[in-house]
Amino acid sequence: MDDTEPRGIDRNLTNYADEGFSRYLRRAFLASAGYDDEDLERPVIGITNTASDYNTCHREVPQLIEAIRRGVLEAGGLPMVFPTISLGEILLSPTSMLYRNLMAMETEEMVRAQPMDAVVLVGGCDKTTPAQMMAAASLDVPSIVSVAGSMLTGDWRGERLGACTDCRRYWGQHRAGVLDEREIVEVRESLCPTAGTCMVMGTASTMACMAEVLGLMVPGSASPPATTGARLKAGVETGRQAVALASQGGRVARDILTRPAFENALCVLAALSGSTNAVVHLLALAGRAGVPLSLDDFDRIARQVPLLVDCKPAGSGYMEDFHRAGGVPALLKVLESLLDVETVGVTGQRLGDLLDATEPPGSWQTTIRSLEDPLGPPASLVVLKGSLAPKGAVLKRAAASPHLHRHRGRAVVFEGPEDVAARIDDPALGIESDDVLVLRGVGPVAMGMPEAGSMPIPKYLAERGVKDMVRISDGRMSGTAYGAVVLHVAPEAAVGGPLALVRDGDEIEIDAEAGRIELLVGEDELARRRAEWQKPALPPRGWRRLYAERVQQADRGVDLDFLTETGSELC
Ligand code: FES
Repeated sequence: MDDTEPRGIDRNLTNYADEGFSRYLRRAFLASAGYDDEDLERPVIGITNTASDYNTCHREVPQLIEAIRRGVLEAGGLPMVFPTISLGEILLSPTSMLYRNLMAMETEEMVRAQPMDAVVLVGGCDKTTPAQMMAAASLDVPSIVSVAGSMLTGDWRGERLGACTDCRRYWGQHRAGVLDEREIVEVRESLCPTAGTCMVMGTASTMACMAEVLGLMVPGSASPPATTGARLKAGVETGRQAVALASQGGRVARDILTRPAFENALCVLAALSGSTNAVVHLLALAGRAGVPLSLDDFDRIARQVPLLVDCKPAGSGYMEDFHRAGGVPALLKVLESLLDVETVGVTGQRLGDLLDATEPPGSWQTTIRSLEDPLGPPASLVVLKGSLAPKGAVLKRAAASPHLHRHRGRAVVFEGPEDVAARIDDPALGIESDDVLVLRGVGPVAMGMPEAGSMPIPKYLAERGVKDMVRISDGRMSGTAYGAVVLHVAPEAAVGGPLALVRDGDEIEIDAEAGRIELLVGEDELARRRAEWQKPALPPRGWRRLYAERVQQADRGVDLDFLTETGSELC
């Protein structure tokens, strides 16, 4: 940092064309909040407050912020808490993903506009941590990430359960007539027993782990559950570390987010069999940081790393088990031979030095497996390319039924989620278990990419015991979901990708091993259909209009083009 640059509360002065007046006025108003000159000499640490009645996952964030404040004060800083948009996954329509970039942009702008020497970004629920990391990558203010932490597990009739893999499993059983109305209500009341984020290895847990591996978080702070003292201790340590970052000056997220840091993250993503949503979020983050990263990198690294972590949906455990087993540091210890140990995160410590001081996972636990005795084979997540997805699609192979890894079937096409809801259970459609369900109109431009990709199995097939079918869409699925679900097809149908040309009865073939997805229709017929295709109208106004005009496709991370590192060249 330049020594002549203003520090602390004198950063980012309000512009009255008189800097002395701006400083004087700022102090006058801060005096009304009880701040004196001794306070205002300290490094200022901004702390984002994403607590909201609309975000139950962040219910304990006020207490976590108190812990972070304590750490900041202990280390000699001045904590300043400020609100930002909060994205509660379950309470946003049509999907929180539509607002991830808005949160990233708003957070970036609020950090840039207000006086702070470093910022603690307190997220947790699915889109909040990615949005905050994207903001951090675009900022020249040192940033450190903290998360709400996961929920503890619940219990129903003696069975341990949690959100949201078990939400889906029991809902599927209810649809199949296995659970009656009273039982599904009992399950509903047991799925989310505490504050915190979904406690399986869904998107929230995966992205917390990604933030830690990338180096944007204090080591060991991805996994403590929300309601534990360990979560608050991580908050205190985060506050202390934020002051250290501010004092060191100049080390910003872009310095931490290097290509080796991303490769380490992809390695851990594969070992976790983490959420497919991490693919779009990491691509977007790399785009912000100016790091070249492609779907091929995900596929290449995933094919080298076996599944090591026994958490739902690919395994059987929960985030609290992963935490007890040692969390991210213990997993990194297992993966050490595959990692670049020269990366350096917010603490300034080399990854190799951190791992020298880290114990491998104990033999008493079974959640984190060894490379010699993995839980599953490599390639838990694969990228598919071919005539149906020229720019790629993803399949979480570890969560798909093995008999569907290679499959050929007849397409049954749905035009958006409403069409699925209206027709999927209609026996007149005559869907068979080896058909391929195709959903289009749920891509980034069409509607912000909702988690509609894991369409329900038709009720009449579920009642016959069918548990999985090949489903293909340009949307996403929840990180807590499972099945032979091909997602993120790019380009999407709304911009004229081949998915727009599929018709009922077409043959589609997927091959997870070969990484192929093919629409088996002749070129002449496709050309005829392409000539008939009409581009859907864009939303008329506001954020949705801006989003639809400027959002990139899934293979680029679904960021707005002008927010990427090279985005300014577009304007
Ligand atoms: Fe917030 Fe799952 S709904 S993390």
